[in-house]
Amino acid sequence: MHDVLYVTSEMYPFSKTGGLGDVMGALPPAVHAKGVRTAVITPFYGRMNLAGHKLRLVYSDLHVGYPWPSTTAEIYQTDYDGISVYFVSRGEYFDRRHYYNTHNGDYFDNCERFIFFCKAVLKWARLLPSAPTVIHSHDWQSSLVPPYLYFDREHDSFWKNTRTVTTIHNLAFQGRFSERLFHESGLPAEAWSMHGAEFYGDLNMLKASIAYSDAVTTVSPSYAQEILGPEFGCGLEGFLNAQTHKLYGILNGADYAVWDPSEDKFLPCCYSADNVQGKQECKKSMLSDFYMSEQLVDKPVLGFIGRLRDQKGIDLLIDILPRLMEKEVGVIVLGEGDLGYEARLLEFMEEYPGRFCVQVGYTEDLAHGIQAGADIFLMPSRYEPCGLTQIYALRFGTPPVATAVGGLRDTITPYPDEGATGFTFAEPDGDLFYDAVIQAVDLWHDRPEWEKMVKRAMLKEFTWNRSAGEYIKLYQSLGARV
Ligand code: ADP
Ligand code: GLC
Repeated sequence: MHDVLYVTSEMYPFSKTGGLGDVMGALPPAVHAKGVRTAVITPFYGRMNLAGHKLRLVYSDLHVGYPWPSTTAEIYQTDYDGISVYFVSRGEYFDRRHYYNTHNGDYFDNCERFIFFCKAVLKWARLLPSAPTVIHSHDWQSSLVPPYLYFDREHDSFWKNTRTVTTIHNLAFQGRFSERLFHESGLPAEAWSMHGAEFYGDLNMLKASIAYSDAVTTVSPSYAQEILGPEFGCGLEGFLNAQTHKLYGILNGADYAVWDPSEDKFLPCCYSADNVQGKQECKKSMLSDFYMSEQLVDKPVLGFIGRLRDQKGIDLLIDILPRLMEKEVGVIVLGEGDLGYEARLLEFMEEYPGRFCVQVGYTEDLAHGIQAGADIFLMPSRYEPCGLTQIYALRFGTPPVATAVGGLRDTITPYPDEGATGFTFAEPDGDLFYDAVIQAVDLWHDRPEWEKMVKRAMLKEFTWNRSAGEYIKLYQSLGARV
């Protein structure tokens, strides 16, 4: 029996390319801890991290019937943090080196892979003794579940009490494919409309999900507003303006069981708001891990962690880096993404040995090491639906410098406001970013003031318990008895 079934293409610690994975590793257990029975279903990737988890095969021959009449899936189950996690397995779709794309672009069959996933989810859920009260799907990869269910509900009373929720983690990724794939998807002809799955002659999977879900959420209140305008609406603003009666913004939380320097298994030395001394040890160890000059130990070191994409404003950092290097600071970047940005950053490493370092790639231990070891966290995003790394940075006592946009606006109190926890600048512009960084560096030199800001940042709480409560209220407002 599951009250809420979460459908997602990533879940930490099993799979993750970014914040979606972190959210799905934390939200379902947090909702469960409030007395609502939850489960998660996600693809079985060949590259998944299954360390310490025992898998059980629950269906060996689940009939999916897509793309061929005879196509089947296997379903596995494991326990995680008190909840059941189900995995949809089909090697030809999910046993690959990457999740969604290589450096050459998206996998050519992404649409087919995730139509298959969505169909398998519903075929499996249809075999449960009773239907979940809420099915909550996330991002475009899971987004055909609400439309399929909407149309199934018309003739199958099994689903009559099931409500659907879609969460948009990033509106820029909509799952847009050719009309042919709409016809293959099995959605009824009436869904091919400007009020449904159709978007300028293409299939738009996320739009279909928005159209046919009972409620739609984004991951911060600011982003829920921003996507109604042309700047952040990614072409869907007109459509979204007609959906505001069911659109909500619920801020993400941070999983402090994973991201808290007072008990962090990745750090050489733990610390807390009451005793921040250990942070200096973490800084020394980070400098040595990244082959940075030891002299930086008493200079401000700035850290960036994220996908090296336009969204994250990595080009703005590239733009101001030569100017920053004229100051007595160090800069560390961890991430991967556009080859052009990676190449430019690697060149900088040769130009500024010991003062600038980029680690192309991503590992959890290095991310934790930078969160703890850096003094100032950089997040010049062009848009940010929520952003988790700045929330982690606050807890690690690493005040962020960020664009005043989306979830960054909702989580950072900017200097010089009362109770400031970081620095923001109005627009994604190199000069404004540079000025904000310099403001942070100047305040860093004013040790008593800086220490007060660090303490305030560390004491800020963005718990999943609060967000989980908001989601439960939303489920209840849809008439779901959870
Ligand atoms: P987004 O989801 O837009 O990438 P968030 O700030 O919400 O940004 O979440 C990022 C999460 O993913 C953090 O846990 C961060 O440490 C991690 N992360 C950052 N860069 C990468 C990367 N290149 N690969 C995998 N995870 C990453
Ligand atoms: C997306 C967004 C990010 C958000 C994350 C988790 O990847 O880019 O802002 O924090 O999803 O919701």
